[in-house]
Amino acid sequence: MNLNLRPIGIVRKNSIQIHKRWIKALRGIEGFSHLIIVFYLHLSRRPKLLMHPKGNKAIPKLGYLATRTPRRRNKIGLSVVRLIKCQRGQLFVEGLDVWPGTPVLDVKPYTPRDAVKNFKIPSWVRLLDVNEPDPLRRYSHSLHRTLGDSGKN
Ligand SMILES: C[S@@+](CC[C@H](N)C(=O)[O-])C[C@H]1O[C@@H](n2cnc3c(N)ncnc32)[C@H](O)[C@@H]1O
Repeated sequence: MNLNLRPIGIVRKNSIQIHKRWIKALRGIEGFSHLIIVFYLHLSRRPKLLMHPKGNKAIPKLGYLATRTPRRRNKIGLSVVRLIKCQRGQLFVEGLDVWPGTPVLDVKPYTPRDAVKNFKIPSWVRLLDVNEPDPLRRYSHSLHRTLGDSGKN
């Protein structure tokens, strides 16, 4: 099957510029505090089936599908971001963890059905998060504090 995906926008610094053709489709988005953004990680290299997450040799090699590496067969990435404001087709957001110039494939509002209350993560994820500088991870830290150290409540 051949897929023909066309970006609907592009990542700028701390914002997403939706292409003119699709701006009308943003109507109503201001009602949501958070959005799910789907990207095409255009600069990523081919995946290796097994890899050390973030190149950290202290963690055993894992399958790439068990990680959030940008090196994936279809280069698809997604982030949950906080919507600050929407102005003339520009979504100003907090929590973007991709580079300016990254093509945006889709935007979806974040709803309660996306929130998982009881979740489990392996200990290596916590190990990597300790020094994680990006804003999305800081967001998930505060979520873990809310839910307790294991992410369970
Ligand atoms: C680990 S990925 C995760 C993205 C998203 N939160 C996800 O889980 O799909 C984010 C990292 O990919 C890299 N990256 C950012 N933009 C990229 C792009 N356009 N192409 C390839 N790699 C990118 C950066 O190193 C960034 O820290």
